[in-house]
Amino acid sequence: MRIDILTLFPEMFPGFLEGSLLGAARRSGLLDIRLVDIRDFAEGPHRQVDDRPFGGGPGMLLMPGPVVSCIEAVQADGAPPGQVVMLTPGGRRLDQSLVEELARRERLLLVCGRYEGFDARVGETVGAEEISIGDYVLSGGEVAAMVVVEAVARLVPGVLGDEESARQDSFSNADRLVEGPQYTRPREFRGLHVPEVLLSGDHRRIEAWRHEQALAATRRRSTATPTPGHARRSDP
Ligand code: 6GU
Repeated sequence: MRIDILTLFPEMFPGFLEGSLLGAARRSGLLDIRLVDIRDFAEGPHRQVDDRPFGGGPGMLLMPGPVVSCIEAVQADGAPPGQVVMLTPGGRRLDQSLVEELARRERLLLVCGRYEGFDARVGETVGAEEISIGDYVLSGGEVAAMVVVEAVARLVPGVLGDEESARQDSFSNADRLVEGPQYTRPREFRGLHVPEVLLSGDHRRIEAWRHEQALAATRRRSTATPTPGHARRSDP
């Protein structure tokens, strides 16, 4: 899969892209991820990319010219042209089913906004899809693009090395359940014991228990009263 990241701040990405999972996937050729500096497509002596909004209001907007020129140049470089995705807080909220949709594309262009956002004609001109990673405000789309890359990359066949674990992850099962609590050694930690069923070796009981725990965790989460953690000293 190929992903082009269009940004005014390409220097934010190298550490992230060279990290263990993505770095290995890129070196093995499973992922072709490229960075493009939108400012390279700005014109004039000042290479201006932002301007004040018509009608007034705070902050600056990304001008349509440099952003659209950048998108068009990147799309013309290689085939297929790829789906344009603009990262913007007003977009469709990212969830695992949207991640799965994106992972089925052969090529994505992720366009990171800065300032107060994009001129509305960018999306209209290039037929972009707009995505947000949640209902809060970031100063730019770069971190959101990293979230999209990381979530999508692990669904590309071969990237994880263990396709079963992606299927078992939270939100990835048919019912979109979150995972229940999990335990490793030691069997007792500060008075907290690993549930007996997990030590039983009875795989059907373990499966049933895990399903129950996943249902309970999903219910707790949707009723939205924050709890400090799963394990409490008073739990059996
Ligand atoms: Cl994609 N961009 C910005 N600037 N803020 C966000 C976001 C994106 N998603 C959530 N908040």
